[in-house]
Amino acid sequence: MVVFWLLYDAICRVFGQREKGDAIVGALVLVLVCVASWLACHWFAGRAAFLLVGAMLATAMSANVFFWIIPGQKKVVKSIAAGEPVEPIHGARGKQRSVHNTYFTLPVLFAMLSNHYSFLYTHKLNWLVLILMMFAGAAIRQFFVMRHGWKLGRNRHPLGYALVGVVVIAAVVAWLTPQPSEAAKAPVGSADYAALKKVLEQRCYQCHGAQLQMKNVRLDTPQAVKQHAQAVYQQSVVARTMPLNNATQMTDAERVLVGRWFEGGAKTE
Ligand code: HEC
Repeated sequence: MVVFWLLYDAICRVFGQREKGDAIVGALVLVLVCVASWLACHWFAGRAAFLLVGAMLATAMSANVFFWIIPGQKKVVKSIAAGEPVEPIHGARGKQRSVHNTYFTLPVLFAMLSNHYSFLYTHKLNWLVLILMMFAGAAIRQFFVMRHGWKLGRNRHPLGYALVGVVVIAAVVAWLTPQPSEAAKAPVGSADYAALKKVLEQRCYQCHGAQLQMKNVRLDTPQAVKQHAQAVYQQSVVARTMPLNNATQMTDAERVLVGRWFEGGAKTE
Protein backbone atom coordinates (compact mmCIF):
# COMPACT_ATOMS: atom_id res chain seq x y z
CA MET A 1 0.00 0.00 0.00
CA VAL A 2 2.79 2.39 0.95
CA VAL A 3 4.91 1.46 -2.07
CA PHE A 4 1.95 2.00 -4.40
CA TRP A 5 1.32 5.41 -2.87
CA LEU A 6 4.98 6.44 -3.23
CA LEU A 7 5.14 5.33 -6.87
CA TYR A 8 1.78 6.84 -7.76
CA ASP A 9 2.66 10.10 -6.02
CA ALA A 10 6.02 10.23 -7.82
CA ILE A 11 4.30 9.72 -11.21
CA CYS A 12 1.93 12.61 -10.47
CA ARG A 13 4.75 14.89 -9.27
CA VAL A 14 7.00 14.20 -12.24
CA PHE A 15 4.48 14.10 -15.10
CA GLY A 16 1.33 15.71 -13.65
CA GLN A 17 1.86 19.31 -14.73
CA ARG A 18 3.49 18.66 -18.11
CA GLU A 19 1.82 19.05 -21.45
CA LYS A 20 -0.54 16.05 -21.90
CA GLY A 21 0.28 15.32 -18.24
CA ASP A 22 -3.16 13.86 -17.52
CA ALA A 23 -2.82 11.29 -20.31
CA ILE A 24 0.74 10.29 -19.32
CA VAL A 25 -0.21 9.96 -15.65
CA GLY A 26 -3.36 8.01 -16.59
CA ALA A 27 -1.43 5.53 -18.72
CA LEU A 28 1.34 5.03 -16.12
CA VAL A 29 -1.09 4.59 -13.23
CA LEU A 30 -3.04 2.04 -15.30
CA VAL A 31 0.17 0.04 -15.85
CA LEU A 32 1.04 0.35 -12.15
CA VAL A 33 -2.38 -0.92 -11.03
CA CYS A 34 -2.16 -3.85 -13.47
CA VAL A 35 1.30 -4.85 -12.22
CA ALA A 36 0.16 -4.52 -8.59
CA SER A 37 -2.92 -6.71 -9.28
CA TRP A 38 -0.78 -9.35 -10.96
CA LEU A 39 1.71 -9.38 -8.10
CA ALA A 40 -0.98 -9.46 -5.39
CA CYS A 41 -2.74 -12.42 -7.03
CA HIS A 42 0.58 -14.30 -7.24
CA TRP A 43 1.74 -13.50 -3.71
CA PHE A 44 -1.52 -13.89 -1.78
CA ALA A 45 -4.65 -16.04 -1.77
CA GLY A 46 -7.06 -14.53 -4.32
CA ARG A 47 -9.51 -13.62 -1.61
CA ALA A 48 -6.90 -11.50 0.16
CA ALA A 49 -5.35 -10.20 -3.06
CA PHE A 50 -8.58 -8.59 -4.28
CA LEU A 51 -9.12 -6.88 -0.92
CA LEU A 52 -5.50 -5.72 -0.75
CA VAL A 53 -5.60 -4.16 -4.22
CA GLY A 54 -8.80 -2.36 -3.21
CA ALA A 55 -7.20 -1.19 0.03
CA MET A 56 -4.14 -0.06 -1.93
CA LEU A 57 -6.25 2.20 -4.16
CA ALA A 58 -8.29 3.41 -1.19
CA THR A 59 -5.08 4.29 0.67
CA ALA A 60 -3.96 6.42 -2.29
CA MET A 61 -7.41 8.08 -2.34
CA SER A 62 -7.16 9.05 1.33
CA ALA A 63 -3.55 10.17 0.96
CA ASN A 64 -4.54 12.35 -2.01
CA VAL A 65 -7.02 14.15 0.24
CA PHE A 66 -4.64 14.51 3.17
CA PHE A 67 -1.42 15.43 1.38
CA TRP A 68 -2.64 17.38 -1.65
CA ILE A 69 -6.30 18.33 -1.80
CA ILE A 70 -6.81 19.73 1.73
CA PRO A 71 -3.34 21.41 2.02
CA GLY A 72 -3.84 22.98 -1.45
CA GLN A 73 -7.21 24.38 -0.43
CA LYS A 74 -5.76 25.76 2.79
CA LYS A 75 -3.05 27.61 0.86
CA VAL A 76 -5.61 29.06 -1.54
CA VAL A 77 -7.88 30.21 1.30
CA LYS A 78 -4.89 31.75 3.08
CA SER A 79 -3.89 33.72 -0.02
CA ILE A 80 -7.44 34.97 -0.50
CA ALA A 81 -7.72 35.99 3.15
CA ALA A 82 -4.40 37.87 2.92
CA GLY A 83 -5.54 39.58 -0.28
CA GLU A 84 -2.66 38.04 -2.25
CA PRO A 85 -2.95 36.63 -5.79
CA VAL A 86 -3.90 32.92 -5.75
CA GLU A 87 -1.39 30.50 -7.28
CA PRO A 88 -3.35 28.34 -9.75
CA ILE A 89 -1.02 25.34 -9.28
CA HIS A 90 -2.74 24.34 -6.00
CA GLY A 91 -6.12 24.18 -7.65
CA ALA A 92 -4.73 22.30 -10.67
CA ARG A 93 -2.98 19.70 -8.50
CA GLY A 94 -5.98 19.25 -6.21
CA LYS A 95 -8.28 18.82 -9.19
CA GLN A 96 -6.01 16.22 -10.80
CA ARG A 97 -5.95 14.15 -7.58
CA SER A 98 -9.73 14.47 -7.17
CA VAL A 99 -10.23 13.20 -10.70
CA HIS A 100 -8.03 10.17 -9.93
CA ASN A 101 -10.07 9.50 -6.79
CA THR A 102 -13.19 9.52 -8.97
CA TYR A 103 -11.81 6.75 -11.16
CA PHE A 104 -10.68 4.70 -8.16
CA THR A 105 -14.18 4.67 -6.62
CA LEU A 106 -15.86 1.84 -8.54
CA PRO A 107 -12.75 -0.39 -8.63
CA VAL A 108 -12.49 -0.05 -4.83
CA LEU A 109 -16.17 -0.91 -4.43
CA PHE A 110 -15.73 -3.96 -6.64
CA ALA A 111 -12.72 -5.12 -4.59
CA MET A 112 -14.64 -4.62 -1.32
CA LEU A 113 -17.62 -6.68 -2.51
CA SER A 114 -15.60 -9.35 -4.36
CA ASN A 115 -15.22 -11.52 -1.25
CA HIS A 116 -18.83 -12.63 -1.61
CA TYR A 117 -18.15 -14.15 -5.03
CA SER A 118 -15.59 -16.90 -4.77
CA PHE A 119 -15.69 -17.78 -8.48
CA LEU A 120 -14.04 -14.41 -9.17
CA TYR A 121 -11.02 -14.66 -6.90
CA THR A 122 -10.48 -18.42 -7.10
CA HIS A 123 -10.23 -18.37 -10.90
CA LYS A 124 -6.85 -19.41 -12.33
CA LEU A 125 -6.52 -16.04 -14.05
CA ASN A 126 -7.95 -14.11 -11.10
CA TRP A 127 -5.54 -11.20 -11.68
CA LEU A 128 -7.09 -10.71 -15.13
CA VAL A 129 -10.61 -10.87 -13.70
CA LEU A 130 -9.62 -8.17 -11.20
CA ILE A 131 -8.04 -5.92 -13.85
CA LEU A 132 -10.96 -6.28 -16.28
CA MET A 133 -13.59 -5.56 -13.64
CA MET A 134 -11.66 -2.55 -12.32
CA PHE A 135 -11.18 -1.28 -15.87
CA ALA A 136 -14.93 -1.59 -16.50
CA GLY A 137 -15.55 0.40 -13.29
CA ALA A 138 -13.22 3.20 -14.41
CA ALA A 139 -14.82 3.33 -17.88
CA ILE A 140 -18.31 3.56 -16.38
CA ARG A 141 -17.10 6.31 -14.06
CA GLN A 142 -15.72 8.17 -17.07
CA PHE A 143 -19.25 8.13 -18.48
CA PHE A 144 -20.61 9.84 -15.36
CA VAL A 145 -17.79 12.41 -15.30
CA MET A 146 -18.22 13.35 -18.96
CA ARG A 147 -22.00 13.43 -18.77
CA HIS A 148 -21.75 16.69 -16.83
CA GLY A 149 -19.57 18.14 -19.57
CA TRP A 150 -22.09 16.99 -22.16
CA LYS A 151 -24.92 18.74 -20.31
CA LEU A 152 -22.86 21.95 -20.34
CA GLY A 153 -22.05 21.52 -24.03
CA ARG A 154 -18.31 20.94 -23.42
CA ASN A 155 -17.98 17.50 -25.01
CA ARG A 156 -19.93 14.95 -27.02
CA HIS A 157 -22.20 12.41 -25.34
CA PRO A 158 -20.03 9.83 -23.51
CA LEU A 159 -22.30 6.80 -24.00
CA GLY A 160 -19.36 4.92 -25.59
CA TYR A 161 -17.55 4.70 -22.23
CA ALA A 162 -20.58 3.20 -20.50
CA LEU A 163 -20.99 0.70 -23.33
CA VAL A 164 -17.31 -0.32 -23.13
CA GLY A 165 -17.72 -0.91 -19.37
CA VAL A 166 -20.88 -2.97 -19.83
CA VAL A 167 -19.38 -5.01 -22.70
CA VAL A 168 -16.28 -5.82 -20.61
CA ILE A 169 -18.44 -6.96 -17.67
CA ALA A 170 -20.65 -9.03 -20.01
CA ALA A 171 -17.53 -10.62 -21.52
CA VAL A 172 -16.23 -11.51 -18.02
CA VAL A 173 -19.63 -13.02 -17.14
CA ALA A 174 -19.59 -15.14 -20.32
CA TRP A 175 -15.97 -16.16 -19.70
CA LEU A 176 -16.59 -17.24 -16.08
CA THR A 177 -19.79 -19.19 -16.73
CA PRO A 178 -19.26 -22.48 -14.86
CA GLN A 179 -18.41 -25.43 -17.09
CA PRO A 180 -18.75 -29.03 -15.90
CA SER A 181 -15.21 -30.19 -15.09
CA GLU A 182 -13.70 -33.41 -16.44
CA ALA A 183 -14.10 -34.92 -12.99
CA ALA A 184 -17.79 -34.08 -12.84
CA LYS A 185 -18.38 -35.97 -16.10
CA ALA A 186 -17.04 -39.16 -14.50
CA PRO A 187 -19.58 -41.93 -13.79
CA VAL A 188 -21.86 -41.14 -10.87
CA GLY A 189 -21.78 -43.10 -7.65
CA SER A 190 -22.18 -42.17 -4.02
CA ALA A 191 -19.05 -41.87 -1.86
CA ASP A 192 -18.89 -43.37 1.61
CA TYR A 193 -17.31 -42.00 4.77
CA ALA A 194 -14.13 -44.05 4.37
CA ALA A 195 -13.46 -42.41 0.99
CA LEU A 196 -14.29 -38.96 2.35
CA LYS A 197 -12.04 -39.49 5.37
CA LYS A 198 -9.05 -40.14 3.12
CA VAL A 199 -9.61 -36.81 1.37
CA LEU A 200 -10.10 -34.89 4.63
CA GLU A 201 -6.96 -36.50 6.10
CA GLN A 202 -4.85 -35.38 3.18
CA ARG A 203 -6.39 -31.98 2.47
CA CYS A 204 -7.99 -30.65 5.65
CA TYR A 205 -6.57 -32.16 8.87
CA GLN A 206 -3.51 -29.92 8.63
CA CYS A 207 -5.65 -26.90 9.54
CA HIS A 208 -8.74 -28.61 11.02
CA GLY A 209 -7.26 -31.49 13.05
CA ALA A 210 -5.78 -32.18 16.45
CA GLN A 211 -2.98 -29.61 16.17
CA LEU A 212 -4.83 -26.73 14.63
CA GLN A 213 -8.56 -25.89 14.53
CA MET A 214 -9.05 -22.94 12.19
CA LYS A 215 -12.28 -21.12 13.00
CA ASN A 216 -12.92 -23.79 15.65
CA VAL A 217 -13.62 -26.37 12.97
CA ARG A 218 -12.30 -29.90 13.53
CA LEU A 219 -12.84 -32.51 10.84
CA ASP A 220 -10.98 -35.49 12.29
CA THR A 221 -13.86 -37.37 13.95
CA PRO A 222 -17.11 -38.70 12.45
CA GLN A 223 -19.16 -36.56 14.88
CA ALA A 224 -17.30 -33.39 13.93
CA VAL A 225 -17.71 -34.13 10.22
CA LYS A 226 -21.43 -34.75 10.76
CA GLN A 227 -21.75 -31.44 12.59
CA HIS A 228 -19.97 -29.50 9.83
CA ALA A 229 -21.22 -31.51 6.83
CA GLN A 230 -23.15 -28.62 5.28
CA ALA A 231 -20.21 -26.21 5.76
CA VAL A 232 -17.70 -28.74 4.38
CA TYR A 233 -19.83 -29.09 1.25
CA GLN A 234 -20.34 -25.34 0.98
CA GLN A 235 -16.67 -24.44 1.48
CA SER A 236 -14.91 -27.12 -0.55
CA VAL A 237 -17.43 -27.99 -3.31
CA VAL A 238 -19.67 -24.98 -3.93
CA ALA A 239 -17.49 -21.97 -3.10
CA ARG A 240 -14.14 -23.78 -3.41
CA THR A 241 -12.67 -21.43 -0.78
CA MET A 242 -11.32 -24.41 1.19
CA PRO A 243 -8.61 -25.61 1.47
CA LEU A 244 -7.52 -22.03 1.98
CA ASN A 245 -5.75 -20.92 -1.22
CA ASN A 246 -5.79 -24.65 -2.01
CA ALA A 247 -2.67 -24.95 0.14
CA THR A 248 -3.03 -28.73 0.30
CA GLN A 249 -3.67 -29.05 -3.46
CA MET A 250 -7.09 -30.67 -3.38
CA THR A 251 -7.99 -31.99 -6.84
CA ASP A 252 -11.23 -31.48 -8.78
CA ALA A 253 -11.92 -35.20 -8.51
CA GLU A 254 -11.73 -34.95 -4.72
CA ARG A 255 -14.19 -32.05 -4.70
CA VAL A 256 -16.58 -34.15 -6.78
CA LEU A 257 -16.14 -36.97 -4.26
CA VAL A 258 -17.02 -34.67 -1.34
CA GLY A 259 -20.04 -33.48 -3.33
CA ARG A 260 -21.24 -37.05 -3.93
CA TRP A 261 -20.77 -37.89 -0.28
CA PHE A 262 -22.85 -34.91 0.80
CA GLU A 263 -25.56 -35.33 -1.79
CA GLY A 264 -25.70 -39.05 -0.99
CA GLY A 265 -26.82 -38.28 2.58
CA ALA A 266 -23.54 -37.18 4.26
CA LYS A 267 -23.22 -40.48 6.16
CA THR A 268 -20.52 -40.75 8.81
CA GLU A 269 -20.57 -44.44 9.60
C1 HEC B 1 -4.08 -24.05 5.09
C2 HEC B 1 -5.04 -24.16 6.09
C3 HEC B 1 -6.41 -24.72 5.77
C4 HEC B 1 -6.71 -25.89 5.11
C5 HEC B 1 -5.74 -26.89 4.49
C6 HEC B 1 -8.14 -26.01 5.16
N1 HEC B 1 -8.69 -24.95 5.82
FE1 HEC B 1 -10.67 -24.68 6.24
N2 HEC B 1 -10.22 -22.92 7.19
C7 HEC B 1 -8.97 -22.36 7.28
C8 HEC B 1 -9.09 -21.04 7.84
C9 HEC B 1 -7.95 -20.07 8.09
C10 HEC B 1 -10.46 -20.84 8.10
C11 HEC B 1 -11.14 -19.58 8.65
C12 HEC B 1 -11.51 -18.73 7.45
C13 HEC B 1 -12.30 -17.51 7.77
O1 HEC B 1 -12.42 -17.12 8.92
O2 HEC B 1 -12.81 -16.92 6.80
C14 HEC B 1 -11.14 -22.05 7.70
C15 HEC B 1 -12.50 -22.24 7.82
C16 HEC B 1 -13.16 -23.38 7.42
C17 HEC B 1 -14.57 -23.64 7.64
C18 HEC B 1 -15.54 -22.71 8.33
C19 HEC B 1 -16.03 -21.70 7.34
C20 HEC B 1 -16.97 -20.69 7.91
O3 HEC B 1 -16.97 -19.59 7.38
O4 HEC B 1 -17.67 -21.00 8.86
C21 HEC B 1 -14.85 -24.85 7.09
C22 HEC B 1 -16.18 -25.57 7.04
C23 HEC B 1 -13.62 -25.36 6.50
N3 HEC B 1 -12.62 -24.45 6.74
C24 HEC B 1 -13.51 -26.55 5.83
C25 HEC B 1 -12.32 -27.03 5.27
C26 HEC B 1 -12.24 -28.25 4.49
C27 HEC B 1 -13.41 -29.16 4.17
C28 HEC B 1 -10.94 -28.39 4.16
C29 HEC B 1 -10.29 -29.48 3.32
C30 HEC B 1 -10.93 -29.80 2.07
C31 HEC B 1 -10.20 -27.26 4.71
N4 HEC B 1 -11.10 -26.45 5.37
C32 HEC B 1 -8.84 -27.06 4.59
C33 HEC B 1 -7.77 -22.94 6.89
C34 HEC B 1 -7.66 -24.13 6.20
